[in-house]
Amino acid sequence: MRAANQWKDYELLDTSRGERLERWGDIYLIRPDPQILWDTPRRHPAWKQAHARYHRSNTGGGQWERLRSLPDSWQIRYGDLHFALKPMGFKHTGLFPEQAVNWDAMAGFIRQANRPIRVLNLFGYTGAATLACVAAGAHVTHVDASKGMVAWGKENAVLSGLADKPMRWLVDDCGKFVQRELRRGNTYDGILMDPPSYGRGPGGEVWKLEEQIYPLVAECVKLLSDNPLFFLINSYTTGLSPSVMQYVLGSLLPAGIDGTLEADEIGLPVTDSGLVLPCGATAMWHR
Ligand SMILES: C[S@@+](CC[C@H](N)C(=O)[O-])C[C@H]1O[C@@H](n2cnc3c(N)ncnc32)[C@H](O)[C@@H]1O
Repeated sequence: MRAANQWKDYELLDTSRGERLERWGDIYLIRPDPQILWDTPRRHPAWKQAHARYHRSNTGGGQWERLRSLPDSWQIRYGDLHFALKPMGFKHTGLFPEQAVNWDAMAGFIRQANRPIRVLNLFGYTGAATLACVAAGAHVTHVDASKGMVAWGKENAVLSGLADKPMRWLVDDCGKFVQRELRRGNTYDGILMDPPSYGRGPGGEVWKLEEQIYPLVAECVKLLSDNPLFFLINSYTTGLSPSVMQYVLGSLLPAGIDGTLEADEIGLPVTDSGLVLPCGATAMWHR
């Protein structure tokens, strides 16, 4: 498993009985995680001092219970990247810390390439991967269905001192955007996507990962430039193994393309147990 072990401001302190205890800067949160099947003793003192706990409801969704004074928004950083965090629906905070391994990998490819690189980030959320690629020197096109997420991404760009760098922030349906880019003849050296299991485009377009990932990747490979650098697909859909993501990507990449195709789980180290909690599957091709 590839572990996101370079964090200073984020820490997964403990996992027990269906919940994670996490430190986000100075803020401690308890969030549900259905994978945590073990009922290990909760020794860490922060279990009793958390600022908030997210309760999942039986009818879907859920809500935050504020246990201590919790700011509406606060910031953490990863290297030079700064992110605003907010307690949101669906237990979200605006950041998926395990993705740091992918941010570092892509930033490394871009720096090593040492040439102008154009990147497309689909389902870009609050822009962490976009900013990691921009900071490494790429021009990035960021696409997400949600106006609020795109606004949040731009806020993170300002906080990170990257607002004047070359990037495009677009509120659009990923499938429709890719079709338009194909018609326009635009190409990209790097493509990444971290789609949800289920989602909706801005016009209500339904996204179901199992049904749509293959046709979407099939269209995306046509957007690769003559000298592509990477293609990364992440999924945190329970039950989709890294190998499945690798077969999707591998079966669609242009025949004879040079480079390395690999796939692995990504995860977060757990301070109290020394385990690494699996958080998703990433397949990636790179030069
Ligand atoms: C939960 S996030 C994915 C995880 C995120 N990329 C990360 O940081 O790990 C899913 C994002 O996909 C977006 N989304 C869902 N369906 C979409 C669609 N059809 N087109 C574009 N974006 C979509 C949502 O607005 C959301 O921001």
